[in-house]
Amino acid sequence: MKVAIASDHGGIHIRKEIMSVMDELQISYEDFGCECDTSVDYPDYALPVAEKVASGEFDRGILVCGTGIGMSIAANKVKGIRCALVHDMFTAKVTREHNDSNILAMGERVIGPGLAREIARIWLVTEFEGGRHENRVNKITDYEA
Ligand code: RB5
Repeated sequence: MKVAIASDHGGIHIRKEIMSVMDELQISYEDFGCECDTSVDYPDYALPVAEKVASGEFDRGILVCGTGIGMSIAANKVKGIRCALVHDMFTAKVTREHNDSNILAMGERVIGPGLAREIARIWLVTEFEGGRHENRVNKITDYEA
């Protein structure tokens, strides 16, 4: 699995924590920034990552901003993206099992680094269940087409 990861200025610390989780799990990833002290615009990071996942260049994406909300709204504008905004371990697992989410969004001003690491770990290792959930995901894909 190949993961694209990015954050705005509000998500740098958690982005770095998640990269260390992916190192531990030996998951291959590419970091798309930001390398910034100053304020940047989250769509400039969310949209390129979402496009890389939608095109198949990357299998999954992880986006972090202050709340995770801006990143998730922007990423979900890209056809084929199912970005889940997650701040607890239960929905981290279930959004993979039921929604086959291909991008995870989190907010650094919402949760601490320990919980963010656990959420990322669960989301990265959990598989889609398929079956009845596949029919539901297909309805979203059909609507997009
Ligand atoms: C930046 O101040 C902040 O608005 C951004 O990180 C994010 O929370 C947007 O949804």
